[in-house]
Amino acid sequence: MMKKTSIAAALLLASLNLHAVLTEDVEVPYVPFEIKMGKHFDVVQSNCLTCHSFGYILNQGKQPRHFWKEKVEKMVDAFKAPISKEDQVLITDYLFEQYGNGQP
Ligand code: HEC
Repeated sequence: MMKKTSIAAALLLASLNLHAVLTEDVEVPYVPFEIKMGKHFDVVQSNCLTCHSFGYILNQGKQPRHFWKEKVEKMVDAFKAPISKEDQVLITDYLFEQYGNGQP
């Protein structure tokens, strides 16, 4: 349990510090962002920040639930992000809760 927590903390630091390096690798633009520490943020952190920055995700603005659901599915189908069905639901919940526009 302790170990898991410290790995998560290390990943957070790595994703923040190595931000520029990561975005450079996939050639996506740097986008400044405000991270909202909502429920299931940890799941987003471990599944969504390996290929691009958090700002790149939030650049979409406030969106309906189906939009976020489809984006998560696109990452899995088109880019082969290895994310379990269960985590896909948690991530969609997080994105909609924090960056949703209230529409289904
Ligand atoms: C395996 C690598 C990979 C992972 C993991 C990944 N993405 Fe992406 N994502 C990409 C690539 C590549 C693009 C750029 C696609 C393009 O330019 O069309 C992208 C683009 C995006 C975009 C911009 C809109 C779009 O349709 O291109 C959003 C939003 C996004 N990702 C959300 C997420 C979320 C949420 C997660 C976690 C569930 C995630 N990504 C995980 C590779 C990944």
